[in-house]
Amino acid sequence: MNILITGSNGQLGNEMRVLSAQHPKHNYFFTDVVEAENTHLLDITDKAAVSAFIAAHAIDLIVNCAAYTNVDKAEEDEITATKINAEALSVLGSQGIRVIHISTDYVFSGEACQPYREADPIAPHTIYGITKYEGEKRLLATCPEAVILRTAWLYSSFGNNFVKTMIRLSKERKELGVVFDQIGTPTYAADLAWAVFTVIEAPVWHPGVYHFTNEGVCSWYDFTIAILALANSTECQVHPILSEEYQYKTPRPHYSVLDKSKFKKTFNVQIPYWLDGLQRCMKLLNF
Ligand SMILES: NC(=O)c1ccc[n+]([C@@H]2O[C@H](COP(=O)([O-])OP(=O)(O)OC[C@H]3O[C@@H](n4cnc5c(N)ncnc54)[C@H](OP(=O)(O)O)[C@@H]3O)[C@@H](O)[C@H]2O)c1
Repeated sequence: MNILITGSNGQLGNEMRVLSAQHPKHNYFFTDVVEAENTHLLDITDKAAVSAFIAAHAIDLIVNCAAYTNVDKAEEDEITATKINAEALSVLGSQGIRVIHISTDYVFSGEACQPYREADPIAPHTIYGITKYEGEKRLLATCPEAVILRTAWLYSSFGNNFVKTMIRLSKERKELGVVFDQIGTPTYAADLAWAVFTVIEAPVWHPGVYHFTNEGVCSWYDFTIAILALANSTECQVHPILSEEYQYKTPRPHYSVLDKSKFKKTFNVQIPYWLDGLQRCMKLLNF
């Protein structure tokens, strides 16, 4: 197959590049809005450019790793967030080929106390969540064959993320307050890339919405303790704090845990525990 990867300079996009080496039977076209090595320029909001690219390279499948992911900035720039997270999904969905797309736990209210299933009520509280849900709907309306993987708390050795921020802050500060009343599952983007390839390589195509994160549950505080333990960082004292003590510009969900039963049953796989993913990522960061 000829596979188009959009947003390939991001966390997941880079992990797709790494893992694609283990699947050499396909041809990959890595694209993004910013020029980089081995990257074609392609803006997913540009319908003419997307159609021309797909025709020129006889693309069979799109893996959409592109998104407007800055939750705080999305509140101030709803127009751009809507273009990239919502309107572009009509562009990608209407190309007459299959699409694998990534969505988010932010489509839910975050007020549950048991893991969210795919069919649970949608109630996004942020512009980011609203635009991502609109994207899901637009994609399913234009491409009923699409696969949507909702994930949460992504990190990677590529790009900026919570893991790298905590390592940096632990070197700069003697004390650090981290929220313990937001619960979720840290998810290594390399494991999400593996999930994407699990979908691609399945003997049968299984369209629909799925939840995928690593296994287990923790708070941002617990995650930080694990990161700093693996980084051998002993100088910085980490304290648990409440969300109300942290000046969030945009409210964050208190509960982001996703039920992955459907993905595991459909594709007959087991998913690595979050600490296992973190250990692999920390090794790549030389810890
Ligand atoms: N990060 C998380 O914690 C998290 C949690 C749940 C779900 N997700 C979802 O998981 C997916 C992957 O996230 P990620 O963390 O890998 O994202 P990321 O690191 O922010 O990467 C997204 C990439 O898309 C590019 N992009 C932005 N606008 C584009 C456009 N119009 N056309 C083409 N490319 C464009 C970005 O470029 P610029 O950086 O130059 O804008 C960036 O390289 C996204 O769908 C996201 O919504 C992420």
